[in-house]
Amino acid sequence: MEQQVSESASQQVSGSDHRKRVRLGVLLSGRGSNFLNIADCIERGELRGCEIALVLSNVADAPGLAAARERGFTAVAQPSPGVPRAEHDRAMLEHLRAHAVEYVILAGYMRVLTPEFLQAFPQRVLNIHPSLLPSFPGLDAQRQALEYGVKVAGCTVHFVDDAVDHGVVVMQRLVRVRENDTVARLSKRILAQEHRLYPEAIARVLSGRYEVRGRQYVPRLV
Ligand code: GRF
Repeated sequence: MEQQVSESASQQVSGSDHRKRVRLGVLLSGRGSNFLNIADCIERGELRGCEIALVLSNVADAPGLAAARERGFTAVAQPSPGVPRAEHDRAMLEHLRAHAVEYVILAGYMRVLTPEFLQAFPQRVLNIHPSLLPSFPGLDAQRQALEYGVKVAGCTVHFVDDAVDHGVVVMQRLVRVRENDTVARLSKRILAQEHRLYPEAIARVLSGRYEVRGRQYVPRLV
């Protein structure tokens, strides 16, 4: 069984402020509320030992990109329409390398990443998905959940692998489905939980105190 021990960022994250901060690259395609929430958490000192080095989007007019610029972040568009996936991902990698990004945080990034991209950041690409995976991967997860009739929905933070919404699960949060729920209302409650979950999961991964055994994310007690 495969066992990978993360040593990565632990020394950098724990400890005092003068240590180097882990450089995050945030990839988004849309409104960017998860990005903004992570930025707020870092600013408030709730997510420590890291900084957002780059916000990168495949959608030139993504509201999240505009919001990043307004907040003074380095924000770059690498438009994807009409560009073959491999070529686009290579360009994305160049931006990330140019900004010395160490971890990639997908925050509503609506494109599947190539194996070449993922190999450049082994176990260093995280995603958040608005369902309790492995249920309801792909688009419109909240609608899928509601239409299926589940009583409990939620969100998942996972490492990204070659399959869509499939990698090792880091953390999940539950959201109860209410009678007469709508996609909009359920999505709003799930999003509120996403905003709690993602910074916590990022902190855990950056701490380096875990092992991945096969599909299991196993916290390591120190
Ligand atoms: C979130 O629901 C996230 O789970 C999914 O895409 C959405 C992005 O929302 N991957 P936002 O752009 O962060 O507001």
